[in-house]
Amino acid sequence: MDQKILWAVNHMPKTDDKNLPIMGLEEIAKARTFHESFPQYTKTPLTKLDHMAAYLGVKEIYLKDESYRFGLNAFKVLGGSFSMARYIAKETGRDVSELPYSVLTSDQLREEFGQATFFTATDGNHGRGVAWAANRLGQKAVVHMPKGSTQTRLENIAKEGAQVDIQEMNYDDCVRLAAKEADETPRGVMVQDTAWDGYEEIPSWIMQGYGTMAMEAGEQLKEYGCERPTHIFVQAGVGSLAGAVVGYFSNLYADNPPAFVVVEAEAAACLYKGAAAGDGQIRIVDGDMETIMAGLACGEPNTISWDILKNHVKVFIAAPDWAAANGMRMLGAPIKGDAPVTSGESGAAPFGALAAIMSMDEYADLRKDIGLDENSRVLLFSTEGDTDPDRYKNIVWKGLDK
Ligand SMILES: Cc1ncc(COP(=O)(O)O)c(C=O)c1O
Repeated sequence: MDQKILWAVNHMPKTDDKNLPIMGLEEIAKARTFHESFPQYTKTPLTKLDHMAAYLGVKEIYLKDESYRFGLNAFKVLGGSFSMARYIAKETGRDVSELPYSVLTSDQLREEFGQATFFTATDGNHGRGVAWAANRLGQKAVVHMPKGSTQTRLENIAKEGAQVDIQEMNYDDCVRLAAKEADETPRGVMVQDTAWDGYEEIPSWIMQGYGTMAMEAGEQLKEYGCERPTHIFVQAGVGSLAGAVVGYFSNLYADNPPAFVVVEAEAAACLYKGAAAGDGQIRIVDGDMETIMAGLACGEPNTISWDILKNHVKVFIAAPDWAAANGMRMLGAPIKGDAPVTSGESGAAPFGALAAIMSMDEYADLRKDIGLDENSRVLLFSTEGDTDPDRYKNIVWKGLDK
């Protein structure tokens, strides 16, 4: 625990918030209806951890468990599938609401649209989602993975019929490679879970797809009798997920938004660095970005999300690996009476950060900056299960660091 949790309170200049409507409630309702049309669809559980909340000194803790998403062990497929549907809708002159799963997979639509090749780069979860969706929709997928990606993750993508490889380069360079290949391939389409200047439409659809998870969570909170959480913690790699969650809940609770906290892996904390610099400009992290949080090992922020985050996030946190590892162990073996949650490295990072902040004296100031106390009702997202099963066992069962 030599490495400390770092944080930056958001004092960045506000903008005109032009990207917030991407996560408008009506748009997200469409994504939700689309996902509901899949035969594999069920709402993922929102687990309430009462004993853990009492132990950590907050009122309520709610954890959305995405290990149950479509049998894929992570939330990511929500974005890939919805963006591909919106792309096909646009190409065939329809609204996405006219393309539920049954129509998208029909012979008639396949004949009309034909076959495209969807290119992407991934640490694992996004690529698996794209490969899965392409497989179901009768489309082709090409997936590049960065140096250090595990064989298990590659095999899970290959199983869906995609062409997949591990490159000798980091995630952000894999993105550039996939973009180049998509450009050079007839009917090649880049379906990347991040945006940059000039590449914004598909990533905004991906963020809307993630909105299904946020919308479900909002409804499930109500079922528990919680009209509104006081705090929402969300993890970030490039920040598409965080932009989606922060954007959706800023729209849902427009009159009284919760305090949003973004949690990154310290080795790849580009958003935190931007917030710490304070001028509103993007900061980039380069190099290998070694962390157990594979899904968060991205050093170049999504440009459209960044705008949403700048306007709405209260605190940006850079979490060391030990925080994520502790979070995995605590969720896997919680206090008696609470349900265990299988949460992977990137999934458990926000909970691990919350647990450290609430239980370690050295983070008393951070507790204050976020405004966490015995009245706090906290919503978090466990965005993946044991997507790397060997590493999961090493950390949770054997007590290793990675
Ligand atoms: C499990 C998991 N959680 C969180 C994230 C972060 O999402 P984003 O890159 O949109 O910030 C990822 C990204 O791959 C992921 O795989």
